[in-house]
Amino acid sequence: MQKETRPDAGIFVIFGGAGDLTWRKLVPALYNLFLDHWLPEKFWVLGLDRAKMSNERFVKHLHEGVDGFSRRGQTRKEQWKAFSEHFAYMQADFSQAKTFAAIAEKLAQKEDQWGLKANRIFYMAVPPRMIETLSQGLAEAKLNRDRRACRIVVEKPFGHDLDSARALNRSLGKLFDESQIFRIDHYLGKETVQNILAFRFANSIFEPIWNRHYIDHVQITVAENMGVGHRGDYYDHAGALRDMIQNHLLQVLCLIAMEAPTSFEANEVRNKKVDVLHTIRKIPEDRVPEYAVRGQYGEGFMGGEQVPAYLSEADVAENSCTETFAAVKLFIDNWRWQDVPFYLRTGKRLPAKVSEVSIQFRQVPHQTFPSTVLLDWLSNRLVIAIQPEEGILLRFRAKNPGPGMRLSQVMMQFYYQEAFKTRPPEAYETLLLDVMEGDATLFMRADQAESSWSVIRPILDFWENSKPADFPNYQAGTWGPEAADILIARGGHSWLMPTMLECDEGTATCQVKTVPHQ
Ligand code: BG6
Repeated sequence: MQKETRPDAGIFVIFGGAGDLTWRKLVPALYNLFLDHWLPEKFWVLGLDRAKMSNERFVKHLHEGVDGFSRRGQTRKEQWKAFSEHFAYMQADFSQAKTFAAIAEKLAQKEDQWGLKANRIFYMAVPPRMIETLSQGLAEAKLNRDRRACRIVVEKPFGHDLDSARALNRSLGKLFDESQIFRIDHYLGKETVQNILAFRFANSIFEPIWNRHYIDHVQITVAENMGVGHRGDYYDHAGALRDMIQNHLLQVLCLIAMEAPTSFEANEVRNKKVDVLHTIRKIPEDRVPEYAVRGQYGEGFMGGEQVPAYLSEADVAENSCTETFAAVKLFIDNWRWQDVPFYLRTGKRLPAKVSEVSIQFRQVPHQTFPSTVLLDWLSNRLVIAIQPEEGILLRFRAKNPGPGMRLSQVMMQFYYQEAFKTRPPEAYETLLLDVMEGDATLFMRADQAESSWSVIRPILDFWENSKPADFPNYQAGTWGPEAADILIARGGHSWLMPTMLECDEGTATCQVKTVPHQ
């Protein structure tokens, strides 16, 4: 996983080159890799899209994207100039065989100019319905042939449900070897998400308590304050369960719950993760409401400003039943996790953008101290903060200073930025570099994608067949519908306020201690 040398010469062919993903994520990530000297000296990016555009206009458009979205802020003139020389644009009709012949020719020309064979990465930054056509086109132009050098990157959502994901896997599998297919879930590229593996398996003290004997329950929250913005068309056909839980949240759950891999070889890690998905208890079709709830935001206030209801967003159907919030309770049927609930929740227009995992430990078996000295009833809690800050925090009880015995919660904390004096790279930087290296550890294998769909299938089916009667059922700027509180309360728990917010708002019941720099 640790890169030591730059990857070999590489060409990125981006289908959807003029689109939003390329603009906001892919090119800013490539730019940062370029500045950090991670891109090969010989690299070339060919953007393809339907729009007619000159190379200059294409580069200008990308420049605006990098200025707006790069973690480094505005570009510097000389650096941008050096970077942008590696880009070209081609207007393309993806339904035409001649498009793929033209791509093949351009790639061959570039390789001739370089005098070597490069890795060829075909990035599908397009709606899922186009993937089959594109992969077919690539195959007809023999651009899939070299198993070592040709790679295809497929964005989420991978399919729309289990059947379509299986069909897509089958059709890709006829044209590409599994080792050539990189199914992206950008959460797996986030440093803190990767750090879950390091935390669990590079330290000896956590693993012995990482089980049902010590852990009471786990909460995974991915909250967003944004609405659907300009993605209404896509989102209205997806919803929170498909958009977030099927992929990002289930992948995080896998990392929390998996057994120790014997090595960091891609398939070994992926085997261990898929084992978790296989052992998730199937939700009985007739009892879905006990395990999953959905919500849709109505209008409300965010940061003092009024924001519209989901139904008033652009490109959303008038009577849409699409959920913008989902909460799910899952159990993992194995020795380690039997009967430990995993609560997952995600939603748009929640009070803040914050993602974190809370591992809530059991209460002490016997209270040595009388209740009069305890200033709260909280048990130990380990928080893996994914964003906005990336870090790991542990809450525990300590004696208040002064005479007498009074106990309250304190926190030990590790923040990436503070500890390593640097901001972690963006997820796409990590993942694009991995694709260039041919390292699939952080990508979804075919069976993982299908198993994730299997987990949520009963919920999808139930929701499809019973339309919600109460939408919109939460106000923008709140923590989702009341039904989510009821869902978790049935298990004797309640949603934990993300630690970052408690500390930010100064409402923490604990005192926040800063670990001094070494
Ligand atoms: C994407 C979803 O995969 O993840 C979006 O399609 C969501 O709806 C986004 O906003 C969240 O990603 P992040 O990295 O901002 O948490």
